[in-house]
Amino acid sequence: MSLYRKLKEVHNTRQKQRAYQSGLVPTMGALHQGHLALIAQAKEENESVWVTIFVNPTQFNNPSDLDAYPESLAADVEAIHGIDPNINVFAPTVSEMYPEKAEASTFSFNGLDKVMEGADRPGHFNGVLTIVSKLFEAIKPHRAYFGEKDFQQLQIIKNWVDKSAIPTTIVSCPIVREANGLAMSSRNVLLSKAVRAEAGFIFETLKYCAGRGMKKTDIYTHIANAFAKHPKFTLNYAMCVDENTLQEVFEVNPYKKQRIFVATSVEGVRLIDNIALN
Ligand code: PAJ
Repeated sequence: MSLYRKLKEVHNTRQKQRAYQSGLVPTMGALHQGHLALIAQAKEENESVWVTIFVNPTQFNNPSDLDAYPESLAADVEAIHGIDPNINVFAPTVSEMYPEKAEASTFSFNGLDKVMEGADRPGHFNGVLTIVSKLFEAIKPHRAYFGEKDFQQLQIIKNWVDKSAIPTTIVSCPIVREANGLAMSSRNVLLSKAVRAEAGFIFETLKYCAGRGMKKTDIYTHIANAFAKHPKFTLNYAMCVDENTLQEVFEVNPYKKQRIFVATSVEGVRLIDNIALN
């Protein structure tokens, strides 16, 4: 079993693996089928796969969210090795990744951080890029795998890789859902059984609005009405957005790449989801 806790051990192993095509799947653990799909795809496309498990404190703008974040390292390692026992797992401590202060560096985002998660969670994407850049530096992957569940994060990472000429291909992977349509998330285990079942309405609502030529204002009304029927769920935002700029669209256009994004809070848990509009 290859479970690494120290950057030095990772560097030593990477030296020996230099000739291999490598794929990286960064995670914060509490793995579910969404994560495992990324790992399975990385295994198909690379000779050596690295999964990192690290609950990155600098991307949590809300301390109680960080405290409540689920951890299950032993089960995670078992699930990864169920895919392939040769997969390398790197699960460092906070002081290993942040030997001085656990502080985010500042990045420039071309405005991609000004909306949605970036607007609601100040500093979040600086924290994400701080840890992703440290992991890329340590592992130097040929490919790195990210889920469309966190579409804004994916676009921000693609933009950063392009701008910084980092020689890693970013591979985007579709959203994996629970049987009722709820997007899988490590935070779903924090929901009560009843609310987790009820939360299927989020994807139902998004699906209704996609691909049927609805106007933006009608989409917003439909979403607001759907949430009004589920009063435990606070709607933080619902937005029709251009996939590349992440700015709100003036109107829905079937010939352009656009998506609907929603964020909601329920039982103290933040849930996000999105769907392609066409
Ligand atoms: P985490 O939330 O653990 O997610 C790790 C990766 O799994 C991300 O790329 C995320 O988009 C993807 N993922 C999560 N749920 C998914 C689902 N239902 N379907 C498909 N992919 C899914 O995202 C992070 O961690 C962190 O911000 C990280 C990038 C690791 C930096 O700390």
